[in-house]
Amino acid sequence: MCGIVGFMSRNTPAAGPLVSGLHRLEYRGYDSAGVALVAPDGLRVYKQTGKVAELDALLKRELSEEDRRRCTIGIAHTRWATHGLPTRENAHPHLAGGGTLALVHNGIVENYASLRAGLEKRGVQFVSQTDTEVLAHLVAHYDQGDLLAATCKALRRVEGTYGIALVSAKHPGEMIVARKGSPLVIGVGESDIVVASDVSAIVAFTRQVIYLKDGDVARITPGSVDIHSLDNAPVSREVQEVDWDIGAIEKGGYEHFMLKEIFEQPDALRNTIRGRLDPTGGTAILSGLNLSPRELAAIRRLVIIGCGTSLHAGMVGKYLFEDLADIPASPEQAAEFRYCNPIVGPDDWVIALSQSGETADTLAAVRESIRKGALVSGLCNVVGSTIAREAGRGVYLHAGPEISVASTKAFTAQVTALLMTALKLGRTRRLSREEGIRLVAEIMRIPDLISAVLERNDAIARAAEKHANANDMFFIGRGILYPTALEGALKIKEIAYVHAEGYQAAELKHGPIALLCPKTPVVALLADIPGKEKTLGNVQECRARRAPVIGLVTEGDSEAAAAVDDAITLPPTSRELAPIVSVVALQLFAYHVARLRGCEIDQPRNLAKSVTVE
Ligand code: F6R
Repeated sequence: MCGIVGFMSRNTPAAGPLVSGLHRLEYRGYDSAGVALVAPDGLRVYKQTGKVAELDALLKRELSEEDRRRCTIGIAHTRWATHGLPTRENAHPHLAGGGTLALVHNGIVENYASLRAGLEKRGVQFVSQTDTEVLAHLVAHYDQGDLLAATCKALRRVEGTYGIALVSAKHPGEMIVARKGSPLVIGVGESDIVVASDVSAIVAFTRQVIYLKDGDVARITPGSVDIHSLDNAPVSREVQEVDWDIGAIEKGGYEHFMLKEIFEQPDALRNTIRGRLDPTGGTAILSGLNLSPRELAAIRRLVIIGCGTSLHAGMVGKYLFEDLADIPASPEQAAEFRYCNPIVGPDDWVIALSQSGETADTLAAVRESIRKGALVSGLCNVVGSTIAREAGRGVYLHAGPEISVASTKAFTAQVTALLMTALKLGRTRRLSREEGIRLVAEIMRIPDLISAVLERNDAIARAAEKHANANDMFFIGRGILYPTALEGALKIKEIAYVHAEGYQAAELKHGPIALLCPKTPVVALLADIPGKEKTLGNVQECRARRAPVIGLVTEGDSEAAAAVDDAITLPPTSRELAPIVSVVALQLFAYHVARLRGCEIDQPRNLAKSVTVE
C-alpha cells in the first residue's frame, strides 16, 4: 500500500535519499509517486504516475542543480489509489496554503466529505479527488505560527486512519509527522533523520529507530525529534535497534525477492524455531504468549483470524489444534469475523495471524475480540507492528523481512508457529510426553525438509513449463492439505494471473468438475499421509475428464506417481508437516509459471504488500 519517506538534514541534499527510500518501498505496491522539497524560497513539488524510476527521471529533468544541492528537507510518497484514480493530480504530496504546505498521507480519512464541504464553504478550492487533500487544507487553515499545534488541531477533527508527514515553506526547518492506525517510524541517524512508513526504507541510513504509537505527533528539526500527544502534551518514546540489516532486504543474487524468500525458508524457519523447543519435556517454550498452564487449561475454543495467505495458515492451524490439543478451532476471515457479530468471550482464545501486523481487517478483528473479553494473541512477523503491540502477547515469526508481495516464508513460519502453539496447548491436555517428544523432533526437521524440496526446483520448473500457458487451473487437497490447495491457487493467481481455484478434493465432483477438460490442469496434493488413497480416487475422476494432473507425491510412492501425468516428488513427511513441505513446491511452481509468462513477479498488478484499508 502507500508508502511515506521523509528526510531531514542540515547539509545532505534530500532528493537522493527520498528517491532511494521510495525504491525500498516499491515492493508494497503503488501506482503513482511524488516528492516535495523545501527550498529557501518555497516548496518544489514533483509528481508522476507510474514507477518511482519515472519520478526520478522527472527530478533529473526538472530539479535544478542548485535546488538539488540546497534542499535538505523533504517528504515523498508512493500512492496506492483508494479515493480517486491513479492520476498526477491525485498523487501525493498534496498542497495547501497557496502552495506553502505539502502533506503525504497513508490511511483513510473517513469523514473527508464533511470536512471537505466545510472547507469549501470557506472558499478552499480542491484540485484532487483524494481524502488526503482535506488534511493538508485543514492544517494550513489552523496554522497560526505553530505547525505542530495546527497539525494536532486538524488531526483531532479526523475520523479514520493516518500516517502523515508534512513540511511548510512558512516553517522551513521543520517537519511534522503523526500516526493513527498506519505505521510511521523515525530513523535517528548520526547527522540526518529519516522518516518512513516501513523500516525497510530506513535501515540503509540507520538501525536506530523510534516507532511512533497511535496518537503521536512529532516535530522533527535537524538534530531533534519532539514527540507529543494529540493534545500537544510531550510524550517520550524509546529509541530501539532494528535487528536486521540492509542485506536482508536486498536480492542477494536472486532474480526476484520471491525466489530469494522461497529459498530463505530453511534459515527463516530455523529462526522461527530457535530456542522454542524443549526436547526433553516434549513441548514448546513460547514465553511471548504469557499464558499460565491454568489459563491454557481454561480455554474452550480457538478462533484463528487472518486474511489471504495468513488465513490459509490459520486453516492449517484448525487441524493442528483439533488433533493435538482436542480443542475446537475455527479459522475466520478477519473482515467477515469482525462484521458478523463475533461470538467470543473470556473462554475463547483468538489468535491473529499477520505477516505485516498491520492488516486493517485483522487489526479490527483483534480490537473487537479484546473488547469482548477474549484472550488475544498475535502471530506476526514484523516486530513492533500494530497487531503485535495491541494483542500484547504472541509469537514473533522471526522469518526476516518479506519484500515480495506474494507471501511465502511467512506462511511456512506461521504454520510452524501454530504447530508449536498447538504442541504447547496439547501438552496441557491430551498429548503425552512421548507424543510431544516425537513432535519436537518433527519440528526440528522442518528446515532440512524444506531444503530437500528446494533441491527439486529444476523438476518443478519443468512441470511448470508444460502448463505455463493454461488459463485455468485447479488445486485439490484433502484434510490438512486442503488449505495448501487454496494457498497454491492463490499464489498462481497473484503472480502469474492464471485463474485458479483450490478445492477440497472431494468437493470437485459436486460441481466444479463440469469445468474440467484437457486445458485445465489439476494440481493434486498427494503426500503420503492418511487420506491420500481417497484423493487418488479424485485424481482418477479428473483424468477421466482428460484434465492433466500434476501430483505432489511422496518419494518412493510409485502408486501415486503412476496415477498422475506429472509427478513432483517430495521428501517423506508426517501429517503435521505435509502442508509445509507441499506448499514450498507450490510456491516454486507458481514462481516458474509466472516467470515463463513474463509477469512482474515481485510487484503483481493491483496488489499491495500490506493492506491497511478495511
Ligand atoms: C498473499 C498475500 C496476502 C496476505 C494478506 C494478509 O500472498 O500476501 O494474501 O497474506 O494480505 O497480510 P498479512 O499477513 O500481512 O496480514
